[in-house]
Amino acid sequence: MKNILITGGAGFIGSHLVRLMVNKYPEYRIVNLDKLTYAGNLANLKDVENKPNYVFVKADICDFERIREIFSDYQIDGVIHLAAESHVDRSIRDPFSFAQTNVMGTLSLLQAAKLAWDGNFDDKLFYHVSTDEVYGSLQSDGGFFLETTKYDPHSPYSASKASSDHFVRAFHDTYGMPVKISNCSNNYGTYQFPEKLIPLFINNIRHNKPLPVYGKGENVRDWLFVEDHARAIDLIFHKGKVGDTYNIGGFNEWKNIDLIKVMIKVTDRLLGRPEGSSEKLITYVTDRAGHDLRYAIDSTKLHKELGWEPSLQFEEGIEKTVKWYLDNQDWLDNVTSGEYMNYYKEMYNQ
Ligand code: NAD
Ligand code: DAU
Repeated sequence: MKNILITGGAGFIGSHLVRLMVNKYPEYRIVNLDKLTYAGNLANLKDVENKPNYVFVKADICDFERIREIFSDYQIDGVIHLAAESHVDRSIRDPFSFAQTNVMGTLSLLQAAKLAWDGNFDDKLFYHVSTDEVYGSLQSDGGFFLETTKYDPHSPYSASKASSDHFVRAFHDTYGMPVKISNCSNNYGTYQFPEKLIPLFINNIRHNKPLPVYGKGENVRDWLFVEDHARAIDLIFHKGKVGDTYNIGGFNEWKNIDLIKVMIKVTDRLLGRPEGSSEKLITYVTDRAGHDLRYAIDSTKLHKELGWEPSLQFEEGIEKTVKWYLDNQDWLDNVTSGEYMNYYKEMYNQ
């Protein structure tokens, strides 16, 4: 049996990856390590929590001694590291916690892996799940991010992710640790915390609340269905080249305001309102500080070398996503009220 440590498995992307790995690889033990911050929610994993090859461990990646114990207790062979502070707006208000979790937490995991594996790296792997934001910002007509694009982060969030990528590469180059990194574009889908654009706006449309569009709504993001990201991570983890970086994205760019209008149309229709009637909720607000204009990923390497393709067209993905949030108002109410955090604090007695 292989023992795979997935960090941040109770979050948005992590929970999709844990579900995929637990169901697809009964021969692996999947150890989900998560601190359960405001963004972590074990309710995201109800369908796999009783599977024999699944274990949940509540821990902070910054707690180095605890992480060393976990490597030893579970004889970890491979790490897929997703735990992070992930929201750009929070990083602007509180950069320290981003440096702490994303930089120091990643370093703590790397050092714990190095000590546990003790120079014997046979069949070992440290895989860091990173973001396209490390590459900075593109002009509206200015090409794509390649794996070779120079790092140029602008927000405290992207600076912390860039730094953690550098530490991962440093452990490869200095100690010979087998590592892989992927840099993905914006994800959307089920179980995303409703501070991010898509779930926030669906929830606000439902409740007839204002839709705060930053600046003129002209920034461009490249959107990928979260389950396609999880499939790409699985493929890179198993088949990607050690020491390499892979860009992940579906060539699916949207100007924010155009995406918001599509979301409004779909949500209105599913709520039985006249399509487009919720456009009156659009409220232009002060722009995000240092707001990157455009992200666009070139994922040709992943297509050509590993044969990955996104499975869903955007129209189908957004319809599925809006429908899920409308059908799962309890989940949204729980995460916005913080009730699930009290529940799990009691459950784990802390
Ligand atoms: P998320 O905020 O939904 O989840 C983060 C998870 O990490 C939560 O479960 C949280 O409890 C956990 N966590 C936070 N601090 C921790 C700590 N100190 N110790 C242990 N666990 C901790 O994030 P997400 O959107 O699922 O992103 C996951 C990863 O993917 C991040 O590394 C992010 O940078 C990267 N990423 C995200 C996107 C995106 O569009 N969401 C795109 C590309 C890359
Ligand atoms: O590109 C990958 C990144 O995508 C990930 O690394 C991050 O973890 C993830 O949060 C996401 O970052 P963004 O900042 O692009 O996502 P967000 O959903 O916060 O914002 C998407 C766009 O919408 C961005 O241009 C800002 C804008 N926006 C966002 C919010 C929350 C608004 O106009 N209004 C809003 O209220």
